[in-house]
Amino acid sequence: MAKEEDKKKSGEWREFFWNPRTHELLGRTASSWGLILLFYLVFYTFLAGMFCLTMYVMLLTLDDYKPTWQDRLATPGLMIRPKGSSMEIQYSKQNTESWDKYVKTLNSFLTPYDNSQQVMNNDPCTPDKYFIQEDSGSVRNNPKRSCQFNRTVLGDCDGLTDPNYGYRDGKPCIFIKLNRVIGMLPGKDGQSPYVTCGAKREDSELLGDMAYFPSNASFNLMYYPYYGKKAQVNYSQPLVAVKFLNLTLNTDVNVECKINSNTISDFSERDKFAGRVSFKLRIED
Ligand SMILES: *[C@@H]1O[C@H](CO)[C@@H](O)[C@H](O)[C@H]1NC(C)=O
Ligand SMILES: *[C@@H]1O[C@H](CO)[C@@H](O)[C@H](O)[C@H]1NC(C)=O
Ligand SMILES: *[C@@H]1O[C@H](CO)[C@@H](O)[C@H](O)[C@H]1NC(C)=O
Ligand SMILES: *[C@@H]1O[C@H](CO)[C@@H](O)[C@H](O)[C@H]1NC(C)=O
Repeated sequence: MAKEEDKKKSGEWREFFWNPRTHELLGRTASSWGLILLFYLVFYTFLAGMFCLTMYVMLLTLDDYKPTWQDRLATPGLMIRPKGSSMEIQYSKQNTESWDKYVKTLNSFLTPYDNSQQVMNNDPCTPDKYFIQEDSGSVRNNPKRSCQFNRTVLGDCDGLTDPNYGYRDGKPCIFIKLNRVIGMLPGKDGQSPYVTCGAKREDSELLGDMAYFPSNASFNLMYYPYYGKKAQVNYSQPLVAVKFLNLTLNTDVNVECKINSNTISDFSERDKFAGRVSFKLRIED
């Protein structure tokens, strides 16, 4: 009884797969299958065509040298070198190993700024003026030149007079850069933006005196506008070095540096991280 039912079921199934009477495969005739295949063929060809067309049109509108979309940041960010772990520069004066990693980081960070490199790759530009190199219409003015930023501009922090950048003496140098924003003009009337640093919260007595290099702590206008990595291959981001001359030892000192400019407005209320960078210094005896 059970066997017969099994047989019947398998027969039904076989008939569903291929029915010799109606010539149906899986319940459809050959022409029905053909129509379905044709439908999907046309459908997917159409989809693929649409995709290619959209991509093509999009690629046509992209410019190799300029981003089509760029966040309209009112205030670009600041970044420090060395970064430390989560913006903490922490070491012990006596323990060479604890600060040697910072010195090594700075050595490689500053190598491209060697005067010899700068003279080879970049132009001596007119200070306090934008270095404008626009394309004339559709004729590209590429590659574009960049301005020299000599390592020796960083004075006591250039790592040449003091190869330890002050870390050994507990007077560390911190380097500040303004994040790159293509086309940004960070000042007007020949006034370059400049950096000021101060203590955060109640740490003002702990901070002590600071020295800036270059002494006016400015990012000269001649390094702007930035035209992008591809157009300005040898671009050297300008730097400002801050040397902490009399930092209180054996305690956390919270520092904040910010950019001051007559075009970058102080957006502190809208975004308290814009145009500023905070970090912690802790130097053990
Ligand atoms: C970039 O630097 C290289 C190496 O010194 C130089 O040959 C080249 O002309 C420079 N390019 C531009 C656009 O300044
Ligand atoms: C950079 O240094 C080189 C060699 O010391 C010098 O010839 C050049 O004029 C300097 N450039 C700037 C912009 O000061
Ligand atoms: C900052 O100093 C440089 C030279 O060290 C000078 O060319 C520039 O005009 C100064 N900028 C400001 C804003 O005073
Ligand atoms: C360094 O700071 C201490 C207070 O923290 C102060 O007494 C001392 O005079 C300062 N030294 C210099 C050279 O400014």
